[in-house]
Amino acid sequence: MTSLTPMTFAQTDIEKIADHDGRVAVTVDATGKMNPAARRINKLTKGALERLVQSAAFAELKSGDVLSMGYPTGMAAEAVDVVKLANNADVTDLRKAGANLAKKRGTSDLLVLAGGLRKAAELCFGLAMRDYTFEDRKSNGKPRKGAVTVMASKPEEVEAAAAPLLAIADGAFMTRDLTNEPANFLTTTEFADRLAEMKSIGLEVEVLDDAKLEELGMRTLLSVGQGSDSPSYVVVMKWNGGEKDAAPLALVGKGVVFDTGGISLKPGAGMEDMTMDMGGAGVVAGVMRSLALRKAKANVVGLVGIVENMPSGAATRPGDVIKSMKGDTVEVVNTDAEGRLVLCDVMWYAQERFKPVGMIDLATLTGAIIIGLGHENAGVFSNNDALCNAFLKAAGTENEGAWRMPMGDGYDKLLKSRIADMRNIGGRAGGSISAAQFLGRFVKDETPWIHLDIAGVASVKNETALAPVGATGWGVASLNRLISDNFETE
Ligand code: BES
Ligand code: MN
Ligand code: ZN
Repeated sequence: MTSLTPMTFAQTDIEKIADHDGRVAVTVDATGKMNPAARRINKLTKGALERLVQSAAFAELKSGDVLSMGYPTGMAAEAVDVVKLANNADVTDLRKAGANLAKKRGTSDLLVLAGGLRKAAELCFGLAMRDYTFEDRKSNGKPRKGAVTVMASKPEEVEAAAAPLLAIADGAFMTRDLTNEPANFLTTTEFADRLAEMKSIGLEVEVLDDAKLEELGMRTLLSVGQGSDSPSYVVVMKWNGGEKDAAPLALVGKGVVFDTGGISLKPGAGMEDMTMDMGGAGVVAGVMRSLALRKAKANVVGLVGIVENMPSGAATRPGDVIKSMKGDTVEVVNTDAEGRLVLCDVMWYAQERFKPVGMIDLATLTGAIIIGLGHENAGVFSNNDALCNAFLKAAGTENEGAWRMPMGDGYDKLLKSRIADMRNIGGRAGGSISAAQFLGRFVKDETPWIHLDIAGVASVKNETALAPVGATGWGVASLNRLISDNFETE
């Protein structure tokens, strides 16, 4: 488990700045006006900070960028990181500033002089989110990370404002760890166990094993896992922080711990990336974790379908017809279109059991969404404009790319089967949309629903604003905001 960098919040202490022997971060506004901490550093360094602030290089920086001054005379610090911030710096600038500090510090101790900075907590969030590396499978152990101290004029206020944000970062770290973890470590059983551990933070967790799933009639889900030696599970996580007995929001995640494609085997090149095919379930887990850690005043239930898609003598064949829990029959034309077979049963179960006020599913569902939207935006599909717009607004605020895609009868027709109620693929054209239409057939008319195809954003090969290469934790922040803005009481 990668734990969040511990942060200490302290009253600004001018004396301690000179003696700090790690890195010291200080903010300077875009006009070059210095706050008391910056003036102190300028004095200690005999005007070096002022020369930096007046340089052409500083002038070229954008709000949130950082310019460093190494081994300054007059200070014990290994470097002073000078953060340029516009007066009207927005959340994205402040988070970027924090992320830049995390990247610069490596493993050094960091002293952040936040002074009276408005929304200093957002800088802390950016720092926390970017201070992540997945080291669990390196044999030489984790590098010891130095401490982070945030000095402010009202440290208690910054700490209180940062607490719910750090709960979100903690949830995103869980998502990233799960998504980065190889499939021989994150087996289906290990995944279920890690979710069950969240009982310790106040979640109710139920693990439904394959006998129970058989009894419930979740045949399409089970048909995906039957080729694997690892058992299939559905895990239900409940957070009841809202009004007693009020219907919850349901989050549903695709948790394919490894997707070989099954008998419709994927090509070898790049197949190793399919360790991230449980990314949707990882986001659901991360959101549930942050809701519990920040004691959200909402009722939310998270359900994940955990399976492994393997070829074997027991595997589902192309052409097999499977009956879903809903009762509709599916012709499995391609065993690599497995995510929808997992989700349709879990979504049906979520609605039957919880009658949710809304349902949001997350899945690394189609390669086609990467062709359409690249790695910048997740595909958003919905049957409900109000819920969809609320989500898009939350994602916009959190700077997590999300782009609405169309749905409609024309796409739905692509799923027609000669021998069953539907087939599980709709062809190459509009592949992400026919996948969404498939899921839509398992959504009741009265359920406001969003499907998020996160195949392009769950794990990336180039770093993003707040994440290094690898799993991003995309969606944890947006879903938290959607919940706090629309589903929390008070
Ligand atoms: N897990 C994949 C989708 C995926 C592709 C996720 C690339 C992340 C990166 C999914 O199960 C899949 O194989 N989809 C097929 C569907 C097709 C057979 C209709 C695809 O996209 O090729
Ligand atoms: Mn697949
Ligand atoms: Zn898959």
